Amino acid sequence: MSATATMQAGMGTATRRGETAVHCKGVTKHYGEGTSKVWALRGIDLEIGAGELTMLVGPSGCGKTTLISVVAGILDRDDGECTVFGRDFTRMSASEKTRFRGENVGFVFQQFNLLPTLTAAENVAVPLMILGKGRSAAVKQGAEMLEKVGLKDKLKSLPSQLSGGQQQRVAIARALVHEPKLIVCDEPTSALDHDTGHVIMRMLKNVALNESRSLVIVTHDARIFEFADKIAKMDDGRIKEVSNGVAEVARRNGGGGGGGAGH
Ligand SMILES: Nc1ncnc2c1ncn2[C@@H]1O[C@H](COP(=O)(O)OP(=O)(O)OP(=O)(O)O)[C@@H](O)[C@H]1O
Ligand SMILES: [Mg+2]
Repeated sequence: MSATATMQAGMGTATRRGETAVHCKGVTKHYGEGTSKVWALRGIDLEIGAGELTMLVGPSGCGKTTLISVVAGILDRDDGECTVFGRDFTRMSASEKTRFRGENVGFVFQQFNLLPTLTAAENVAVPLMILGKGRSAAVKQGAEMLEKVGLKDKLKSLPSQLSGGQQQRVAIARALVHEPKLIVCDEPTSALDHDTGHVIMRMLKNVALNESRSLVIVTHDARIFEFADKIAKMDDGRIKEVSNGVAEVARRNGGGGGGGAGH
């Protein structure tokens, strides 16, 4: 990477509560061609502010994973606008993109994507090593992060030696360890029981959210809606409605709640 590209990629992204963390307008994305062409995103409009926890909900296949992959710069959109802290991945070189993502985005994959030959602590250390931290310091910091997700006694376990819920917590620790400003989680509580799910959500809120950081969580898990500032409902490649989390919980509990906060 050139010195200029390094400077641009590492450029300060100072953000404050109320400022825009994610801006999407008219975002489209398809897979395949011809008769196998599928439109996963059909024109997504979404604004996420710094300091907000947004949950993305909707039926299987409606495009949630595709949307957060575009937002996180893992997939390229076909059309529309999408910026993260004011930066557009499609305007970055490959190396700039990797660096920006490495510094600013943490991603918890639906299938965890842990590296099978690395221990839990080593897996969590990977983002730090990518950013240039020495191996032993990175693994030590990885171990501290694992302690925060309740896995102090599993530091040296391989992913295959962990339960689904434990692997999920390793994946969450790996997404948080480098303190990115945007954390995107695809079903982070799907393999967790109610109590562990709540512990993880509280931790995500405490560790990952402050006035300049944002969390986006894809979930089917109504038990964690209470943690949301906003709930964005998706269907067939579009955002249909954005309501506030408190109103949604009240509605589900049969208490009314006054509807959405609008969008
Ligand atoms: N790599 C791919 N190739 C072809 N089609 C794909 C691919 N990935 C996703 N799709 C299709 O795009 C649409 C959106 O998929 P996506 O994975 O974004 O849905 P989702 O809302 O995350 O679903 P789930 O809740 O089941 O995880 C679906 O119709 C899916 O079949
Ligand atoms: Mg998905």
